Amino acid sequence: MEKITAAITGVQGYLPDYVLTNEELSTIVDTSDEWITSRTGIKERRIMKDGATSDMAARAVEGLLKKKGLDPLDIDLVIVATVTADYPFPSTANLVADKVGMKNAWSFDVNAACSGFIYALATGSQFIQTGKYKKVIVIGADMMSSIIDYQDRTTCVIFGDGAGAVLLEPTTDGTGIQDFLLHSDGSGVKYLVQPAGGAARPASRETVDERLHYVKQEGQQVFKFAVTNMAEVSANIMDRNNLKSEDVDWLVPHQANLRIIDATANRMGLPSEKVMINIQKYGNTTAGTLPLCLWDYESQLKKGDNIILSAFGGGFTWGALYLKWAY
Ligand code: UT7
Repeated sequence: MEKITAAITGVQGYLPDYVLTNEELSTIVDTSDEWITSRTGIKERRIMKDGATSDMAARAVEGLLKKKGLDPLDIDLVIVATVTADYPFPSTANLVADKVGMKNAWSFDVNAACSGFIYALATGSQFIQTGKYKKVIVIGADMMSSIIDYQDRTTCVIFGDGAGAVLLEPTTDGTGIQDFLLHSDGSGVKYLVQPAGGAARPASRETVDERLHYVKQEGQQVFKFAVTNMAEVSANIMDRNNLKSEDVDWLVPHQANLRIIDATANRMGLPSEKVMINIQKYGNTTAGTLPLCLWDYESQLKKGDNIILSAFGGGFTWGALYLKWAY
């Protein structure tokens, strides 16, 4: 029997209209366009003013279904990677399926912070590869503005809101997802965490007063782990698949910091023309970065292109996924 692989057969993004520029941020906190641009590469980011994470995700999925000419009832499974769920429960995926009318699908969330999209893609691909399902939608969506402290200049300049969705379908032509390498290390909780609102510290007057419902990050520490691990896992997936630098057509790196992206590309021996970058426009949209890159670069991709997705994020979580573009 021919081997079935899971191929991305469509991608669509959604970005809220409101553009928060470095200039505007410098009127809110003590920062400057020069500092943000030189340390991160970010010029502006989008902010969701009229809805929640599920609304951004639903708009991306509606666009995807329209583009593919599909009925919502055709979809078997919906997976949403997010750390900014609309509610602790029910899952955001449940809400997205309902909003779009994907009534034949079951749905669940994956929480792996900035690596969420790769985790979700790896998970969704298994249901296709086994022959169980024909159409799986994988979404990376985060409304980071809902958990960012706009009094904390070390985090508020970095993050933005956005969502991207891909359709996974079976193929036997050799394209699609070839391999993935995923890791986690929960001891990273001390460096990157939203301290309150969960079972460890339920919401109380004190947690609100102490601003503990916002993202807390030790930037320099996270930076060191991110540079090392994102580069390492990307090099490892190349080795495992006998890929040399010249065999890789595109790197799709998590958009956390231009310096981390450069370090990863250098380790892989890739020139900048092969690296997808849109951090200047959207900042770090957490689980949204990778599908939004694929969406922005979709018109430049060719069938058979060797693409490596790579990410590092809260948890810690990190990983890389190797796929051959299918269209
Ligand atoms: O996606 C999830 C994973 N997250 C990441 O991968 C993020 C990894 N970390 C980073 O990207 C970087 O560490 C940051 C962009 C967060 C910070 O850049 P940095 O070069 O590591 O800066 P720093 O934290 O070492 O701070 C340098 C200086 C400090 O001032 P002093 O102590 O040298 O006087 C900060 O207080 O920059 C100051 N600073 C700022 N200045 C102006 C910190 N944030 C700002 C700001 N504007 N927004």
